[in-house]
Amino acid sequence: MKVALFGRNGQLGSSLLAILGDSMEVRAYGRNEVDLADGTRLRETLLRQEPRIIINAAAYTAVDRAESDADTARRVNGEAPAVMARVAGEIGALLIHYSTDYVFDGTAHEPYTEDSPTAPLGVYGKTKLAGEEAIRAAAGAYLIVRTCWLYSNHGRNFLKTMLRLADERDELRVVNDQIGSPTYARLVAEASVQMLSAMSDGQGFRTERSGVYHMACQGSVSWHGFAQRIIDLSGRAARVRVTPISTAQYPTPARRPAYSVLSCDKLERGFGIRLPEWGAALRQCLADDHGLA
Ligand SMILES: NC(=O)c1ccc[n+]([C@@H]2O[C@H](COP(=O)([O-])OP(=O)(O)OC[C@H]3O[C@@H](n4cnc5c(N)ncnc54)[C@H](OP(=O)(O)O)[C@@H]3O)[C@@H](O)[C@H]2O)c1
Repeated sequence: MKVALFGRNGQLGSSLLAILGDSMEVRAYGRNEVDLADGTRLRETLLRQEPRIIINAAAYTAVDRAESDADTARRVNGEAPAVMARVAGEIGALLIHYSTDYVFDGTAHEPYTEDSPTAPLGVYGKTKLAGEEAIRAAAGAYLIVRTCWLYSNHGRNFLKTMLRLADERDELRVVNDQIGSPTYARLVAEASVQMLSAMSDGQGFRTERSGVYHMACQGSVSWHGFAQRIIDLSGRAARVRVTPISTAQYPTPARRPAYSVLSCDKLERGFGIRLPEWGAALRQCLADDHGLA
């Protein structure tokens, strides 16, 4: 089965490549091979390869930088998925695309479902939502997987930042009024591969299963609580203090949702998949790798 994978160097893309590389004929693209801001080149690449499955794990994920670079964010997060969806329709491929909890405004008090109204607060969320809408409009076989607070042993993420800072400082000041579900990227990659197999009916794809699905680790916590658990589990608690602060004390260019917990019931009903509780997943991540390079 030919697969085109975008985002090969990212947290999720590299996990997907590690899993799929053995069993499928994967052509993996990083920014150097195909810049997703260039829709023409993206289209040509896909038409030349004619994959059966297109996986888009690439995105403009720099949430704060997007506020001052909206045009690039729009092209990468909004227009590139539209190109992928159109080509997927033309060649009969399945598109799996990733989106974010940041499509919500964070004013809810219970987990967001796939049908909850979207209202992104910043450029990143708005452009990711535009990507989702373009895929839905293209009417091919697709899966849009919205995930949340991704981390892994690879790439740039909160887990690695906390571990690095903990080696440099004796106090970490972390916001305690944004609540979400930290999610280990490797688990999302594994579950995505399960979804891909379940989408195939031997000949084609089960288009009736196309749709948006929420996929995150169970449970929820603040960034402060997540940081504290990282420090505890990594054996640094005796040396490093984790101090709660408010979002107002840590101003950033982009506003972030105060609450962005995702209900993952639809994923469980449709595909029988449920990710573990976030603390268990964090333990697994810390145990998984041979170091945190
Ligand atoms: N990270 C999170 O907390 C989070 C939360 C919710 C949803 N998501 C979604 O989950 C998906 C995967 O996120 P992730 O954390 O794995 O992202 P990531 O580690 O930041 O990786 C994103 C990848 O996209 C590539 N990319 C960026 N601009 C590009 C361009 N113009 N052309 C080609 N490639 C480009 C980057 O390439 P370079 O390596 O060259 O920069 C990078 O490898 C994304 O759709 C993201 O929106 C992420």
